[in-house]
This record gives sequence, C-alpha cells and structure tokens, in this order.
Amino acid sequence: MSYPAGAGQAERWFGDCFGGLPGGVWLAPGRANLIGEHTDYNQGWVLPFALDLGVRVAASRRDDGVLAIASRQSPGPPAELPLASLAPGAVTGWAAYPAGVAWALREAGHPLAGGASLAVDADLPQGAGLSSSAALECATALALAGLYGLGLPRPELATLTWRAENDFVGVPSGIMDQSASLLCQAGHALLLDCRSGETTAVPLDPAAAGLALLIIDTGARHALGDGRYAQRRAECDRAAAALGVSSLREVTSLAVVAGLADPVLRRRARHVITENGRVAETVALLTGGDLAGVGAVLRASHVSLRDDFEVSWPEADVAVDAATAAGALGARMMGGGFGGSALALVPAGQRAVSAAVTAEFARRGWPPPGFIQAVPSAGARRLR
Ligand code: GLA
Repeated sequence: MSYPAGAGQAERWFGDCFGGLPGGVWLAPGRANLIGEHTDYNQGWVLPFALDLGVRVAASRRDDGVLAIASRQSPGPPAELPLASLAPGAVTGWAAYPAGVAWALREAGHPLAGGASLAVDADLPQGAGLSSSAALECATALALAGLYGLGLPRPELATLTWRAENDFVGVPSGIMDQSASLLCQAGHALLLDCRSGETTAVPLDPAAAGLALLIIDTGARHALGDGRYAQRRAECDRAAAALGVSSLREVTSLAVVAGLADPVLRRRARHVITENGRVAETVALLTGGDLAGVGAVLRASHVSLRDDFEVSWPEADVAVDAATAAGALGARMMGGGFGGSALALVPAGQRAVSAAVTAEFARRGWPPPGFIQAVPSAGARRLR
C-alpha cells in the first residue's frame, strides 16, 4: 500500500509528540489567486485555486479537555491549552490559529468536550502570501470535525475558520483563502461569489494549453495585521458609504465612481469595480478555452493593484516587469499586498522567465526569489 502524500510523515510526527498512532490525518492546501484581489470583503468575486502544497494535521481525541498542539516547523514542546480557557486574545503566535478554530467551533455549539492532540506539519512557505494560516485553520477544522463526527458542510467550515482568523486571532481577512482551501477541485479554479457564497468550478489546466502558472516568492514578508490591509478595507467601506451602497459590489459604473470627491476613495473603488470585471472576463476566457488570453488581464490587474489600490511592493513590480519582458504572457502581484508572491503565466518548460527575474533581483542586490510551479489541485481532505 502506498502512503498518500505526506501522511506518513505527519503520522510519525504525531508519534514523536504524543506517542502512538493518530486517529486520522487531514490535509488542507494553500492557495494561489488567479484573479479577484481585494474583492472578497467588498462582496465581489474571486477566482483562486488550491496548490499541491499545504498543511497536514495528524490528530486524536483526548479526554481531559485540553487542546495540545505541536508543529514540526516550530520546535518546542506541544502547547497545552485548556479548551475552557480559549478566548480572543488569550493565545498568541501560530498556535492561535488552531486554537481559534476550536474556539469558533465551541461558539457555534460544538464544544469538543474531551479536547484533541494535533501534530502539524507543513510544506507551504510561511508569509509568502500562499495562505499558510488559512491552510492551518482548515486542516484543524477538518481534523476536529472528523474526530468528533460533526458532519459540518464545507461552506460552514469556511465561515467558522474565517471567524477564527477574524475574531480570535484578530486578523481582518476576507473569506477567500479559507473557501479556496476547503472548496477547490483539482484542475479547476473556484469562482466564488462572496455575497451569496455561490461557487462554480472553472476548468484551469495550464499544461493542456502548453502553459504554466509560476509563483514567484519575492522574499518580502507581509503581515495582514500590520494595519495597511485594514486601512484598505476601511477605505472601501467609506467609498461604498459615500456612494450610498452597502458594498462596492453594488457598483458597476465607472462614471458613478468618478463622482466620488475624495481622489483616494475614487482610486480604491475603481480598482474594486474593474477587478470584479476582470474576474468575469477571466472566467469567460477560461470557459472559452483561451488561457493565453488571461495574460493581458493579469497585467491589467497588477497595474490596478499598483496604481489604484496601492498595495504592490517594489519586489513585486520588478518581478512582474522582468517576467513580462522575458516572455510571460502576463503577471501580477498576488494576495493582500505589501509582500509575498507574484503569479506569472508563462510558456511551459522554459526557464527564461525565472532566470530573468533572478538576474534582475541579483542586479539590485536583493536575495534570490523562490519559484513554485502552481498546479491547480484538490481542496482539503482526509488522507488517512
Ligand atoms: C488576503 C486575505 C484575503 C483577500 C486577499 C486580497 O489574502 O486573506 O481575504 O482579501 O488578501 O485579495
């Protein structure tokens, strides 16, 4: 019998931390976002896909009411948190994410009375903008729901994990990352309507088109909690209020946006409205079998994020420009901004783009970027 990817390693790690075999092993992937950036909290549309990298949680039930958590990526003895003590702000550092999930489940009426032991193992780089924290939350949620037989539907788990991040950890993110990790399908991107929660799997098979999706980890690290992300959210809310709508999702006319008196709010709203349009355009291109045509849309998204939303960062701008000059069909910064990764659509099997980006970083004295070929993969699941 062959081991499903990584399950054996997580299982052994569980044995090292807690002894014996776990009750199960669960995996939740990180995500890339093809397009639809800073649209989720504006009730708009996003089009992410799951990566074949993620977080594995090997877990068992306990009977002492404690949540014990150990991570292979964070040396030290397991954190032991009495479930009854979990409250927003009570846990700091990486353990706040799994603890937040247990808290959100409890708040939703699932007390997990006996507790659980969780051994975490990740092969996803942290801080690279690939949603390693959402992957940790989603793997934990699947593990706890599985151990306690909760039978919760995936969209509900997405809301619970999002709540853990916002209300327990205190990071004001949107719903995209948790939804992507839990709901994506292999060979597809996930079109998510963030107002209705409606999802559609959109075929995304770069290899079949002779293309590849290349993640460029710029090495610059970001933190959603540093205030700039929250500031963008607040600006969008102010723009919506000034336009008399409940969210920028309601606005489709750029002429309406042009009427905003504040030039900053005007730019922020223009990004959100044009980005929603670019998601629709991308879905139409993919549905029509024209992945190459998406290149120009990625480029337009980058320009909008850089100039109107002002969330790009120097390494991303250099990566996008160098990739495009070296033959990428399109490229853009990805995720919340101010650090993390860019995404480039490139001809398959050639190294010109990665070589050009690496050379450009070296010329500026920056540390070399990392590269990951992004293969649209399956969402979170039980491995054993
Ligand atoms: C981060 C957040 C998401 C989303 C993106 C920007 O990744 O976690 O909810 O807002 O930024 O599109």
